[in-house]
Amino acid sequence: MSGHDRLAALMRRGADFLGSDVAVMAGAMSWVSERNLVSAMSNAGGFGVIACGAMTPELLDTEIAETKARTGKPFGVNLITMHPQLFDLIGVCAKHDVGHVVLAGGLPPTGSIDAIKEKGAKLICFAPALSLAKKLIRSGVDALVIEGMEAGGHIGPVSTSVLAQEMLPEIADQLPVFVAGGIGRGEAIAAYLEMGAAGVQLGTRFVCATESIAHPAFKKAFIRASARDAVASVQIDPRLPVIPVRALKNASTELFTAKQREVARMLDEGAVEMAEAQLQIEHYWAGALRRAVIDGDIENGSMMAGQSVGMVKNEEPVADIIAALMNEAAEALAAR
Ligand SMILES: Cc1cc2nc3c(=O)[nH]c(=O)nc-3n(C[C@H](O)[C@H](O)[C@H](O)COP(=O)(O)O)c2cc1C
Repeated sequence: MSGHDRLAALMRRGADFLGSDVAVMAGAMSWVSERNLVSAMSNAGGFGVIACGAMTPELLDTEIAETKARTGKPFGVNLITMHPQLFDLIGVCAKHDVGHVVLAGGLPPTGSIDAIKEKGAKLICFAPALSLAKKLIRSGVDALVIEGMEAGGHIGPVSTSVLAQEMLPEIADQLPVFVAGGIGRGEAIAAYLEMGAAGVQLGTRFVCATESIAHPAFKKAFIRASARDAVASVQIDPRLPVIPVRALKNASTELFTAKQREVARMLDEGAVEMAEAQLQIEHYWAGALRRAVIDGDIENGSMMAGQSVGMVKNEEPVADIIAALMNEAAEALAAR
């Protein structure tokens, strides 16, 4: 069997689940994963995911319609569990018959799993630990993403390689599992597929796609950066648990420290409750990321990026990125 045939066989389960040609998801990235990148990804045979982030139901409605106008292929929508209008957003997905909903940001709130699956959509959740994966499987999710701390954006504490070793042998026979975080080349894709993954999810590698609307300055910074430039944010107040975010080092790293101090002070003074404090931190990130991705302010905006940023070498069409990844994976398998 050729390397490409072996690769196709290893990806079949994931590709069948997604309805795509290859079992590669472009992970939702706020401001980046909109109609253009998502449709390009699905048109190229992968699986694009719209980042709903802080969108209102009206904006999501438009974004889905515009994506559908650009591709007839399946794509997903990523919703954040703590969004105050989560159920309205689920309704918008149902109205458009979106086939796959990805829920990020913790355990699904009561009723959300049933609401998503009611109209036949498949539900994909993030499982940051084996115990949580088992819980999610029991509650009826259809697939899981396990994402390591090498990833860009909000991260957990454990590396992708350890999560894959701990979790794939225990759960990969029960449902499709997609491995994410730190994947920059096809050799790594082949390895995770051989370990039992149904597919993979990449984010950082697709930011500089020609079809991505990220500001030219944002893309240039990615192309220049190396792995060690993508650092995790630091929590400064033990009472205010902040989910770490991996991003390229710049002045916004200091701005985030100042923001944490401000929110911690408001907590001290009783001006906000913990939930509101955490929401303020999340809003801070959304605004800071927009400044960098859309406005091109690469000093004061958040440059969310994973450690695989060192493997982003130039701007190229999504189809070329996928073809390169698939060739590398197939060659690695052929050489086994
Ligand atoms: C700029 C950027 C923004 C992101 N925004 C989100 C988001 O809004 N929601 C989400 O679930 N994941 C988000 N992520 C994570 C990606 O979906 C994906 O899981 C991650 O990038 C995979 O790791 P990699 O960057 O090492 O490929 C973001 C990542 C980046 C780089």
